[in-house]
Amino acid sequence: MMKPSHPSAGTDHLGRIPSESSWSAVADREACRRGLIYLVGLGPGDTDLVTLKAARLLKDADRVYCFDFLREEVARFARPEALTVVSPLLMGRSVAPGAEGLTPELSERARQAVRARAEFVSQVRALVNAGRTVVFADSGDPTLFSPWFWIERAFAELRIEVVPGASSFNAANAVLHLGVTVGSEVSLSAGTAPLGSGEECPLPTTRVIFTHRFKARDVLPQLAARYPADTPVALVCEASRSSQEVITGTVGTVLDKINGRDLPHLYVIDVGDGLVPAMSARSGCPVDPSDGPTRREDRVIAAGVPS
Ligand SMILES: C[S@@+](CC[C@H](N)C(=O)[O-])C[C@H]1O[C@@H](n2cnc3c(N)ncnc32)[C@H](O)[C@@H]1O
Repeated sequence: MMKPSHPSAGTDHLGRIPSESSWSAVADREACRRGLIYLVGLGPGDTDLVTLKAARLLKDADRVYCFDFLREEVARFARPEALTVVSPLLMGRSVAPGAEGLTPELSERARQAVRARAEFVSQVRALVNAGRTVVFADSGDPTLFSPWFWIERAFAELRIEVVPGASSFNAANAVLHLGVTVGSEVSLSAGTAPLGSGEECPLPTTRVIFTHRFKARDVLPQLAARYPADTPVALVCEASRSSQEVITGTVGTVLDKINGRDLPHLYVIDVGDGLVPAMSARSGCPVDPSDGPTRREDRVIAAGVPS
């Protein structure tokens, strides 16, 4: 158990009542008396990509919360008695039970989620106030589309340390040998916002879509409606894991490529001119040569518009 030893509240280490000037130091110590909350990123799946800090925090924590999909990874580091798999009702943003357009089933689920969250928050608060250290374990980097990010607001009065991890964004870049460099731009999306074509940006742009809720078969037709058909696309599946796979194509061809096959559970979709270097044979990226490199300048010139 990670429990700092501290003097009793309101007295210094010799048990004396402090002078006024040292009240703020006492307040600081009071804050430290309570345990800490960590939101920890475990990287994209390859255990070797878990940071030393993440591994240490998981090992030392009094309680480690995770969702079922991360149970195995967390169990490699956390003590069995500390590991707690929580209900999927605690995932992501909550919806108000009476919200417009909800079916009766979804409204009931929203009610259950509100109850589950309230119970969970008071459990965690009790642990932290008793001086326990609590870790919320997350995949990738916890600042990117995390199902846990709501805890920042729920425990606003407590100290939360966010511990970064390698995101699936980083892992996909590594697979594709795709760098974000001066002269290029990247946007990250959950695929929910209306997708522009990227043509408004003067730089080669890559849009990276995390497909947590919106799957390729829904997102790719949207891309086909907005991007020129020869815009390169890569689906980077299970990046950094032994099951890693890359499916490449263009906005016009990629749907046919995935038709009739089951996609792996985890994948990000990269789309845009920024992918051109990754599509070139030089990069060593496992692309289908029939897709060929496709360049924005070629398209723009073909359309008779000066670049
Ligand atoms: C809820 S988001 C969490 C993202 C995570 N925080 C991160 O930084 O990678 C889950 C989505 O991340 C993507 N993802 C997570 N791990 C992945 C992996 N190893 N390979 C490809 N995509 C992954 C998938 O799009 C998945 O639906």
